[in-house]
Amino acid sequence: METALFLPRLRQAVAAVLPEIVALRHDLHRNPELSGSEERTAGIVSEWLTRHGIAHETRIGDTWGVVGVIESRQGRGERTFALRGDMDALPIHEERETSYKSMVPGVMHACGHDGHTANLMGAALVLNALKADLPPGRVKLVFQPAEETVRGADVMVAAGVVDDVDAIVMLHGWPVLAPGVIGVRNGPVMASSDQFLLTITGKGGHGAYPHDTVDPIFIGAQIVSNLQSIVSREISPVQPAVISVTQFFAGTPAATNIIPGTAKLGATVRALSPDVRKTLPERIERVIAGICAAHRATYEYKYSHGTPVTVNDTAVTDLLREVGRDVLGAENVVELPEPTMGAEDFAYYLEKVPGAMFRLGTGCEYLLHTPKYDFGDAPLEAGISMMAETARRFLEKGA
Ligand code: NI
Repeated sequence: METALFLPRLRQAVAAVLPEIVALRHDLHRNPELSGSEERTAGIVSEWLTRHGIAHETRIGDTWGVVGVIESRQGRGERTFALRGDMDALPIHEERETSYKSMVPGVMHACGHDGHTANLMGAALVLNALKADLPPGRVKLVFQPAEETVRGADVMVAAGVVDDVDAIVMLHGWPVLAPGVIGVRNGPVMASSDQFLLTITGKGGHGAYPHDTVDPIFIGAQIVSNLQSIVSREISPVQPAVISVTQFFAGTPAATNIIPGTAKLGATVRALSPDVRKTLPERIERVIAGICAAHRATYEYKYSHGTPVTVNDTAVTDLLREVGRDVLGAENVVELPEPTMGAEDFAYYLEKVPGAMFRLGTGCEYLLHTPKYDFGDAPLEAGISMMAETARRFLEKGA
């Protein structure tokens, strides 16, 4: 079916599911669950999919992940498009007064994943209702747990969720854009997130006799400041990278006259280019080793890789632009001015298949991860329409 003929049916189908999806979001918002504990949320997702006759599997990779599949009435086709929504909440106490305020003290949907889950369910119901009009192919619905701890996506990928997928898309609520507006961008949009832990071992002693000690605080302080030379003197100024030493533990709280024997440091390390990211563990250790050797200390260095860089595929992002123009109007599709150094575990899917994330305006006056953030109901219509139509059009282009 041609796009022009299909769009009115899409609008009708979205309008038809909207009231129940709004109710679903309120229910999820009232009952937030922390990363890895999304038992109730996953149960509700599964219940809804069952009620609407959508085939799905639960407990993916032994997590609370749920994956549904909608097959076109016109056949299985050759292409599979995936839509991803995350389900977990944050350990923040909600301060916003609404009829659907969190009923769990200290836990709330401060990143709007209630909206993401409800939105994906809305797209599922719309695609399911219109599956006679879907070009041959399949749409996978990936309800993912544990995004906030970035432990969900890699497990889903390891369980083979995207093995048969040709492209994948996700959305994230974005308070600085108005509802009905989306933000898109090609290439790297979110940073890799790695970390290191360092123990410097010197020789403790009396603060009055530093010459008899090997002072790990003095050495640690030099490491902290010299690590910044990697960002400012080794990596191209047009390639963003961040090395933030965020932990420095040393000394005895009870006394100021004791030089400790050890100091422990911890840091977060970020980059927007997979190539730059690869070079960072060695560069950091070289600086640490050099400074420790210069001052007679030894060290133990543990670097661990976390989330990869989220790199939007240009063709998939172009598809989002095209669908955005048709569904929301050209004035409501904006180019995001810059990437962010935050991380998103959607990057794990993008290491396997091309895909893209887009920002969906929520117009909330408060920022993500704050006690008054709310995804709201207003973004749902645009979000559901975007996801459903992007999936349909991807299959159409392959037909
Ligand atoms: Ni989030």
